[in-house]
Amino acid sequence: MSNTILIGAQWGDEGKGKIIDVLTERVDWVVRPQGGNNAGHTVEIGEERFVLHLVPSGILTPGKRCVIGNGVVLDPVALVEEIKGVTGRGLSVEGRLFISDRAHVVFPYHRMLDAQGEARRAKGDQIGTTMRGIGPAYGDKAARFGLRMCDLVDPEFPALLRARVEEKNRILAAMGAPVVVYDEILAATQKAMEVLRPLVCDTVSLLHAAVGRGESLLFEGAQGIMLDIDFGTYPYVTSSNASSGGASTGSGVPPSRIDHVVGVLKAYTTRVGEGPFPTELLDATGEELRRVGREFGATTGRPRRCGWFDAVVARHAVMTCGVDEWALTKLDVFDGFETLKICVAYDLDGRRIEHFPANIREAARCKPVYEDMPGWRSSTRDILRYGDLPAAAKRYIARLEQVTGVPVGILSLGPRRESTLVLGEKDA
Ligand code: GDP
Ligand code: IMO
Ligand code: MG
Repeated sequence: MSNTILIGAQWGDEGKGKIIDVLTERVDWVVRPQGGNNAGHTVEIGEERFVLHLVPSGILTPGKRCVIGNGVVLDPVALVEEIKGVTGRGLSVEGRLFISDRAHVVFPYHRMLDAQGEARRAKGDQIGTTMRGIGPAYGDKAARFGLRMCDLVDPEFPALLRARVEEKNRILAAMGAPVVVYDEILAATQKAMEVLRPLVCDTVSLLHAAVGRGESLLFEGAQGIMLDIDFGTYPYVTSSNASSGGASTGSGVPPSRIDHVVGVLKAYTTRVGEGPFPTELLDATGEELRRVGREFGATTGRPRRCGWFDAVVARHAVMTCGVDEWALTKLDVFDGFETLKICVAYDLDGRRIEHFPANIREAARCKPVYEDMPGWRSSTRDILRYGDLPAAAKRYIARLEQVTGVPVGILSLGPRRESTLVLGEKDA
């Protein structure tokens, strides 16, 4: 058995899409277990650049099959647009993309409520969501008011939708916000379902059968551990479990059938949206990381906040997700840097702490305890063997492995497939 979960080990945008693309070759299925089109996963193949939001990145490898699992919240209109984008570039989804009949649906009223929720929060209390309706859709799921893909293919759908629209319009009207129009939502959803209907199925049984035949699965986590609703910087999080546990609940594949966890880790740290970020750099160095690393959101285009590598965050991912190996990305972004810093612990009100606090007011007071590491000041971009890395780069990787207690198994030195080293023994 070889079923692997890939998770983001920071605040998202670690380069998960790229690593999924590299690992897809080894597996039969790629499964998205959670999140929605708040995610933006970039894959560069040759001169082509794809940004995927709901469709698993495995779709870019011909012959591989992909599942949008029950734990995902899915905007049908956005998904159809994305599928058109993929097929328009010569890739087929036929017989390759399957959507869970248990996945919850994001409707326009969820997006309206997302925007209203942000606008109504006191200044400074906004989460900085992607405005894709993710929180309200997961909210309806938990409140047992959501509609699922199986409802959209049911003859009762118009009546089920009408009841939701009436209730949401009462809420929107009470807020003084514009209401939504039932007929428009019904028509747009039914149009989208013309494309999606053949793809909706019982993906739990589908994956169960695949595992029974000995086929292998790769779970494509979205977001990152610090955006996880339970383990992240609550309330500055997304509304699903981005941790490895979410792979199981979000797909119906039991934990006993999953045997490996890859954590994707950026060589530094970024965050989009609000919330505590202990190693954030608000100076020229942060600006330099943003410029060289091209740190602008793949979904919203917002500039990402940038800072040094934070081992406290990485250890939090190890503890909560059981990370077996790191895929370390964007080490090449450091190529021009003289000195690098690694945060190994925090100073909280004069006390050294090694773990990320639950209380965000405490997290906001945490001051990083840094170790300095020399940079290498040469290009790593075209390096194909670990042994050819500059000595200082090897020392940075070794220190990162020491302070997190997990080995680096995959090293990414550029956005393209080719700029990836799969490391065995790091003998050289
Ligand atoms: P994801 O959400 O985790 O899939 O990450 P995003 O796609 O949102 O952001 C990662 C960005 O970094 C994308 O633009 C990638 O093309 C790019 N990228 C991935 N790995 C590397 C790398 O090793 N080096 C560089 N320079 N860019 C990378
Ligand atoms: P990928 O999969 C980075 C952030 C938003 C906001 C918070 C809540 O590309 O790594 P939401 O719209 O989910 O209610 O927003 O979570 N966020 C992400 N940040 N990468 C993502 O996905 C994200 N998905 C959500 O910026 O701070
Ligand atoms: Mg992203």
